[in-house]
Amino acid sequence: MKFSRSDFPPGFRFAAATSSYQIEGHGFGGAGRTHWDTFAATPGNVVRAEHGMTACDHYHRWEEDLDLMQAMGLDAYRFSTSWARVMPEGRGPVNAEGLDFYDRLVDGMLDRGLAPMATLYHWELPAALADLGGWRNPDISHWLADFATVVMERIGDRVFSVAPINEPWCVAWLSHFLGLQAPGLRDISAAAHAMHHVLTAHGRCVQAMRALNVKNIGAVCNFEHVHAADDSLEAQRAAATYEATYNRFFVGGLFRGSYPDEVMEGIEPYMPKGWQDDFDLIGQPLDWFGINYYTCKRIAPDSGAWPSLQEVPGPLPKTQMGWEIEPDGLEYILTWLQQNYTGALPVYITENGMANADTLGRPDTERMDYLDSHLAAARRAIDRGVPLAGYTFWSLMDNYEWSLGYEKRFGMVHVDFETLERTPKASYHAVAEALRR
Ligand code: FCB
Repeated sequence: MKFSRSDFPPGFRFAAATSSYQIEGHGFGGAGRTHWDTFAATPGNVVRAEHGMTACDHYHRWEEDLDLMQAMGLDAYRFSTSWARVMPEGRGPVNAEGLDFYDRLVDGMLDRGLAPMATLYHWELPAALADLGGWRNPDISHWLADFATVVMERIGDRVFSVAPINEPWCVAWLSHFLGLQAPGLRDISAAAHAMHHVLTAHGRCVQAMRALNVKNIGAVCNFEHVHAADDSLEAQRAAATYEATYNRFFVGGLFRGSYPDEVMEGIEPYMPKGWQDDFDLIGQPLDWFGINYYTCKRIAPDSGAWPSLQEVPGPLPKTQMGWEIEPDGLEYILTWLQQNYTGALPVYITENGMANADTLGRPDTERMDYLDSHLAAARRAIDRGVPLAGYTFWSLMDNYEWSLGYEKRFGMVHVDFETLERTPKASYHAVAEALRR
C-alpha cells in the first residue's frame, strides 16, 4: 500500500470497527431477542433469512480477535455494546454475564494497547422495546439513557471515547421510510418520529453520561457525496432533497438547532408534537464528531409522492455492494462538514471500507486500493485544515452485513462461516506494514 503512518500527524489514531450484532453471536450469554432476530425470521427481509445467532462467535473468540488487532499495530478499536445482551428486555433487569463480557473486552483492549472507542447502540434494538413502538415511541430517549447509564457505570472509567448511536439515518430513514432494515417499516409518520427520537435519545444519553463524568463523548453519522443525475432544475431539486435527508438533517439538529426545509416540506405534518422544543436537548456540546463514508449517489427526479426522487447508477467502479468508489467524496464531506458544522471540533473517520467477493488465496488488492485512495483523500482534507484525529477501517473481519447476510465481505480478516476460522487477508498484512512505516 502507498500510505504510511508517518504521512499522518503525530497522535493520529488508526482503528478497526465492528458492531456487536454483526460479530458476537446473540445466541450466547443470555442476550435477549432483538428486532434483527424478528426481522430476519420474516421471509423476504434478509438474504437466506440469515441472522446473528452465531455470527463470528466473537463472544467466545474475542481474545483472538483483539490479538489480531494488536498484531496489526492498530491504536484503537471501535466496538459496540448490545443493549439486549446487557438488558434482555431493554428495561429493568440487567444480565450480569453480558455486562461482564464488555468489562473483560475493555480490559482486553487496554492490555493490548488498543484505545476502546465505544458505541452504545449499533442497531440491535431489544425486541421487547420494538413491541412498544421502538424508535416511534418518545420514551426511547429515556430507555436508551438508562441503558447508557448501566453500561457506563461499568466501563465508562476506561473507554477512550463513546458515541450513543451509530448512523441515525440508518436507524430512522433506512429502517422506517425505506424499510430496508429492521423494523422494516415504510411509513412516513413512523419515519418522522424516528428521525426526531433518534436525536432526542442521543441528547438524553449524552446528558446521562456527563452526569457520570464520562469523558470524550461524540456522535457518529453517515454521509454520501450526492450528485444530481443531470443539470436539469428537477434533478438539482431531487438531489438537494436527498442530500438534506441524508447529510444535513442530523447535523442540523446536533449543531444548528434546526432541520432543513427540504426535509420538513415532506415530514413536518407527521412530526411528533412539540418537536420544536427539543433542540436544547439534542444539541448537547460534543467532544468529537465521527464520519462514516463509503460512497456517492446520483439522484434523479421521479413522479411519485414526496420526496419524488430515485437513485440512478453512475459510471465509477463499484464494490461488491454495488456502491461507486469515489474517494474525492470523502475529502468533500470532511471539508464541507468542517466549514459548515463542526468547525474546530476534532473529527474521526469512524467507518470506511469496501465489500469484495474475497476468496482465500487471492490477494484483496481492490480493498488495498480503496483504503489507499480514501486515506489519501483524508490526508488532503487535513491539509485543507480539517482537524482529523483518526481513521477507522470497516471492518476488522467479515461479518453479518444486515439484510445482505454473510455474503458481503468487508473484513481485512477472512472468516469461514462454517468453521469460524479467521485468516488475515493481504490487506491486513499490507496495512500492518504501512502502520510500521
Ligand atoms: C454501515 C454500518 C455498518 C456496516 C457498514 C457496511 O452503514 O454502520 O454496520 O453495515 O455500513
